[in-house]
Parts: sequence; C-alpha cells; structure tokens
Amino acid sequence: MSSMEQIRVIQVHKEEDVFHCNRIHYSSVLHQGQRSKILLARSNIIPDKKFAIKQMPLLSDEDRDRFTRELCLMKLALDIRGVVNLLFYPVICGPTGYILMPFYEKRDLLSQRGKLTYYRWMKVFVRTAVSLQSLHKKRIYHQDLRPQNILLTDSHVAFISDFGAASLLPEGCDQVDTWTAAPGFRGPEADQEGGLFCPFQLDTYSLAVSMWQVLSSLCPVKNKPLDHLDNIPPQYAALLRNLLVPEPDRRWTLDKFLTEALELHPDLSCLL
Ligand SMILES: Nc1ncnc2c1ncn2[C@@H]1O[C@H](COP(=O)(O)OP(=O)(O)OP(=O)(O)O)[C@@H](O)[C@H]1O
Ligand SMILES: [Mg+2]
Repeated sequence: MSSMEQIRVIQVHKEEDVFHCNRIHYSSVLHQGQRSKILLARSNIIPDKKFAIKQMPLLSDEDRDRFTRELCLMKLALDIRGVVNLLFYPVICGPTGYILMPFYEKRDLLSQRGKLTYYRWMKVFVRTAVSLQSLHKKRIYHQDLRPQNILLTDSHVAFISDFGAASLLPEGCDQVDTWTAAPGFRGPEADQEGGLFCPFQLDTYSLAVSMWQVLSSLCPVKNKPLDHLDNIPPQYAALLRNLLVPEPDRRWTLDKFLTEALELHPDLSCLL
C-alpha cells in the first residue's frame, strides 16, 4: 500500500484553518461514531453548497495507518462511478486528520428504510453492485458493506462510502484469512476456524444482507436473512435467496446478480 508521502496532505495549526483553507465553514455534527466524527460544512462562496468532513484521531501509529489506508483506497477508487469522492486535499491539524467529501443529502441507506419503492431500491443495488465490481477489478475489497456505508444523493443515486476497513488484495493472491465485517453482515465462511476465503464473495454477501435489511426492515443480527424472505416480493426474494447462499462457491457472483436483476428491470442496463 502506498504511504502517506504519496498523498498530498495540508498541515494546519488551528482547527478553524481546516475550514478556512478550503473556503468552507463549520455547520454541525452529522454523526458521532466510535472513532470518527462526521461534520457538516458549508461553502463560503456558493450559498447552499454543503460538504461532509470525516474527522479522525491520529493519536497512535494504528490511527495514522488507518487514516492513510482510508485515503489511499479512496484515491485509488476515485475514477469509479458510485464511490464517494475525495474533495480538496486531506488536512492534518495536530493529532486529528480530516477527509473532505461531498455531502450526500439523503444520507445513508438505513435512514431511507421504508421510504423508497422496490424499483428505486433495485436501482440503488444495481448501481452499487456495478461500483463494487469495479472496486474488485482493482483488487480493492471493502470489508464493511452495510446500509450505513452506502450514501444517497438527493435524487437517490448511490455511492459506496467508508473505506476504513477496505484493503487491497495482493497480486497473485485470491484469498484472505481474516475478515472484520460487522456481525450480521459476515458471510458464514468467514467464521470457520483456520479458513481461507474469497474477499470478493464476502463483499457480495454483505451487499446482499444490506439489500435484505432495507427491503425487509429487519435487523440481520436478530434475524437470519434466509429465514425471513416472505415479506419481500417473490422476484426480489429469489435474487436474495441466491446471493445469501452460505457456501461461497454456490453463492451468486455480482455478475450473475446483475444479469438476473436486469432481466427483471431491463431499463436499469443504463447503469452498467
Ligand atoms: N459524505 C457524507 N454525506 C452525508 N452523510 C455522511 C457522509 N459521510 C458519512 N455520513 C454519515 O455518517 C455516518 C458515518 O460515516 P462513516 O461510515 O464514514 O464513519 P464511521 O467511522 O464508519 O462511523 P462509525 O464509527 O459509526 O462506524 C454514515 O453512516 C452517514 O450517515
Ligand atoms: Mg461506517
């Protein structure tokens, strides 16, 4: 993985300069996470233009590695449609790092649960599957796909976000032996002792659980997705049944999912 020296970072001494040097001003806290905070900022120049800033502690080597890795992977994915953009240069101020992004008005998929039609959800997941395929072609696996990490614009266009757990699969290697995705979103193969598994099929499983969660409005930690497909229209439940197959070799790939989803909605082929 490239090191911090290869990413241009602006160093400032006062927190207000993080905003000042980018001609934006602080507005509010959007999200307080365990490690990071997401801030809302507004442009000083264009009224109503909003930005989101991910504020991360840089207190230990581990923190600094995480910040660097997230930036490197976002940069590597910059040319992929449907991946959150890095804006301006990242900033470091004392023991805190700042990543600047566009603000996605409809926030994350979980906050939109119950508010979109099935067709709109299919549009979201077809687009996300195409973006995920492009990440995988670059050997990037996300490792934390869940509804909170997929963001929506005002017109419901989806963007994969939060590369905090993402990683690059080394050339010549096609398996990993650790998997950090959250409970409920982990393919069952990841919890078999001493196992080796394909990170791309595990990302596909996490994406399928995300789709199941927003379509069923159930929590994957409390419910087994395959046991709760009855309240989902049969044509979408059939897609999920194949994407949630416990054995990774029998589980549908993203390619197969896209082929079948486009059979249902041929007009979505414009997203390919
Ligand atoms: N660019 C953005 N536009 C709008 N909302 C955002 C943006 N980035 C993040 N958010 C909101 O903040 C939440 C957390 O962001 P993110 O996933 O990047 O941080 P995190 O470090 O994973 O947080 P946590 O510790 O809670 O997992 C998202 O689920 C989303 O609701
Ligand atoms: Mg997150």
